[in-house]
Amino acid sequence: MLAKINPLYTESWKALDEHFGDNDLDLRNLFHENSNRFEEFSLQRENFLFDYSKNLIDARTKELLLNLAEECQLKDAISKMFSGDKINETEGRAVLHTALRDFSGKEILVDGENIKPQIKRVLDHMKSFSESIISGTHKGFSGKEITDVVNIGIGGSDLGPVMVVSALKHFKTRLNVHFVSNVDGNHIAEVVKNLNPETTLFIIASKTFTTQETMTNANSAKDWFLQAGKQEDVAKHFVALSTNVQAVKDFGIAEENIFEFWDWVGGRYSLWSAIGLSIVLAVGYENFEQLLKGAFDTDQHFQTAEFSENVPVLMGLLGIWYRNFYAATSYAILPYSQYLDRFAAYLQQGDMESNGKYVDRNGEFVEYETGPIIWGEPGTNGQHAFYQLIHQGTELIPADFIAYAKSPNKVSDHQDKLLANFFAQTEALAFGKTEEEVEEELKNSGKSEEEIDFLINYKIFQGNTPTNSILFKELTPFSLGQLIALYEHKIFVQGVIWNIFSFDQFGVELGKVLANKILPELENNETISSHDGSTNGLINYYKSNK
Ligand code: F6P
Repeated sequence: MLAKINPLYTESWKALDEHFGDNDLDLRNLFHENSNRFEEFSLQRENFLFDYSKNLIDARTKELLLNLAEECQLKDAISKMFSGDKINETEGRAVLHTALRDFSGKEILVDGENIKPQIKRVLDHMKSFSESIISGTHKGFSGKEITDVVNIGIGGSDLGPVMVVSALKHFKTRLNVHFVSNVDGNHIAEVVKNLNPETTLFIIASKTFTTQETMTNANSAKDWFLQAGKQEDVAKHFVALSTNVQAVKDFGIAEENIFEFWDWVGGRYSLWSAIGLSIVLAVGYENFEQLLKGAFDTDQHFQTAEFSENVPVLMGLLGIWYRNFYAATSYAILPYSQYLDRFAAYLQQGDMESNGKYVDRNGEFVEYETGPIIWGEPGTNGQHAFYQLIHQGTELIPADFIAYAKSPNKVSDHQDKLLANFFAQTEALAFGKTEEEVEEELKNSGKSEEEIDFLINYKIFQGNTPTNSILFKELTPFSLGQLIALYEHKIFVQGVIWNIFSFDQFGVELGKVLANKILPELENNETISSHDGSTNGLINYYKSNK
């Protein structure tokens, strides 16, 4: 069990509060006063640079944040997570997505049983199955090779694979991998429109195998398939990824087509498990293994590096500094890589489902802010959409900029232009443009005193917007695994310090229950009056217009 320490009552929190009140941390001054700032506030690992020098911190801030981590017993929490302690207390489960990518020879015990052999068994199954599909030895019901794979899942059974398959497009096998998640029937209709049931493999991905969206889509996929194939052909075209083996069998999928995982893998942390089968088919088993190895590399770093040089620990602490002391409500994820186009969406679940909690580990309502709103889009597109607000809006929005030095596609000077924008934005956000600079610029462009007076405030950039820069050498399966795990552990660090349970998600239940209650009311012609006025009105308008 994790310690249950209210961070507000720690010495370090109080010291941070005072430090925040006493200081006016300004990035121009901080860089001016310390010519070594970049060296002091950046870390280089073998294949990436983590630059956190453009944050609103000085050495004292860092020291106090590190003290907070110590006081909240982060070290102990890390060791408990990795060793299989049941730290997901509200669900009585261990949190062991890290075991799925543990390449050490060490045993990991859950309820006294070493789970490594089961993990290996499923990985071997994924390997042999994917090889038979990719090589074409596995044939569809009419003897043709599989060409298309449709992963049907939602939330953690969709977002991770979608993100990784998009990020590793440049490692693609011959298979086309598609994703259906939304219960909106247009999603599956549009995906199967151009597919041939003879050459399509469906993966039904659901940890619980009860999720309404996934079960509805799975049944519709089966109906679509059975228009061409027969019931006995289903085995060649449907596989399932789940912890609920009985429910999968009841659905009609044969035991040998089930790729199992376990309740100690959280949905939003499951891409490393059997849920990664669509990734394996999209990029091949070797690349999937590299992804796991990259995450394992971050796991080792997280467990062994001093907190002062520990990337996910620093990421987590910096996030706390902005959320709890600067009252920043949101956090932007800005990858300067089109390959990472789904990265922010993936992290929205990872972070917001984990740390969007208002009850602490003592069962009390928290008296401080917890998880921020996570959002973002790839640069440079975001620059032409929402960066205006980050630069000159009234909110402080800290951001992570992520990029890769090498580009797999060499297209004229695109890469330099992309990175020039990355560097320019972090520079502009940090240092802005002063009144003097604006005045000078307007004078030089021939503006009159009157015009300058009118324009000057609009043209000033106050700057002092903090950013982290994560600059990898190259986007490979290994470096992607490292990156994802950095964020998983950042989220963990924050959950530990906020004294919340990061691995349950009871907040998504109520809506599900109400939807199930409303569904039968939509299937008849009666006027509905059992809800509040607004809900009745909406339902009745829908029924008269559907
Ligand atoms: O949104 C709630 C949730 O339980 C997520 O945590 C999970 O990733 C998603 O639904 C899908 O669940 P399942 O994999 O069981 O279908």
